[in-house]
Amino acid sequence: MLVLGIDTSCDDTSAALLEFGTNTEKTKKTPVVVSSAVSSQAGVHAKYGGIVPELASRRHIEMIWPVVREALGKTDLRELAAIAVCAGPGLIGSLLVGCSFAKALSYSKNIPLVGVNHLEGHILSAFIEDTPEFPFISLVVSGGHTSLYLANGFLDYTELGRSRDDAAGEAYDKVAKLLSLGYPGGPMIDRLAREGNPRAIPFPRAYLPGSLDFSFSGMKTAVLNYLNGRKGSGDLPVRDIAASFQQAVLDVLIRKCQQAMKKTGVGRLALAGGVASNSALKEGMRLMAEKKEVELFIPSPAFCTDNAAMIAVAGYHRFMAGQLAGPDLNPRASLKL
Ligand code: KG4
Ligand code: ZN
Repeated sequence: MLVLGIDTSCDDTSAALLEFGTNTEKTKKTPVVVSSAVSSQAGVHAKYGGIVPELASRRHIEMIWPVVREALGKTDLRELAAIAVCAGPGLIGSLLVGCSFAKALSYSKNIPLVGVNHLEGHILSAFIEDTPEFPFISLVVSGGHTSLYLANGFLDYTELGRSRDDAAGEAYDKVAKLLSLGYPGGPMIDRLAREGNPRAIPFPRAYLPGSLDFSFSGMKTAVLNYLNGRKGSGDLPVRDIAASFQQAVLDVLIRKCQQAMKKTGVGRLALAGGVASNSALKEGMRLMAEKKEVELFIPSPAFCTDNAAMIAVAGYHRFMAGQLAGPDLNPRASLKL
């Protein structure tokens, strides 16, 4: 069974074609990723130091058909069992492009349509290359979200905690901007931090005792205060700042995952979202998982960052549950899971 996934929630236009088993036994197996195409807009937004929503929408309009065509390859549209499209949360103008395109394709070719929540996509990205057993804890850590979920089964998730202010990826991007490293900042800080001392500067960690929520805006402010305090005192120790900031973020992420597993008694953890591709986070989580005998799932970097394969996985399970969308499918910027 072939499912076409489409994601235009933020600044990347992506489409993927996945093949799934049709019976329940096969449902449990990993799908075959036939193709996964992404057109990055990083170059469009880099000079503004962040995403410009209007430019993102326009670029999606230009790229949606070429990207879908690339994902389809030689596959005939008539072979598709369903089209799964991200319906939020995200930038409304960007979401509208993907949803309008998917609705038109579904209607004109009579292909069933499924609306998918972007966060459910990230949670289920664990199933693109792997097959975790339920229940598992999912840490979605991206540019828009930092949340912990208990995944009880397909389509059944309980939120355990979320960021009260900035998402972790947002903090990475803002700190990178303060250090004039360019956008997106996460990969740059990841690289620089490898050559810095993570204990050089004691940036604060917000552990929010008694809660599984997160807070990262204080760390960003602490970096700003540190930079202001050093004005006029020579070269900045950029590598040490990057490494120390990153260590503060990672300490919180790792501790919160441990707390979530302790609270729920679940010893399985899946990471998702752009920040999950961070090399130090992966290493830290692997060490913790080894020590605590936790089963850990981390997708390949291409499936951590926004991608349409994860939308196809979530769409497939919604489709199997009979949850179809119609021409009245409307994206929502703050769609709840
Ligand atoms: O999941 P994603 O592609 O989009 C959202 O749904 O937000 O995540 C993008 C975020 C950006 O903030 C980016 O800086 C961050 O993920 N990111 C990283 C790394 N790669 C991407 N952060 C830290 N280390 C990385 N290697
Ligand atoms: Zn995302």
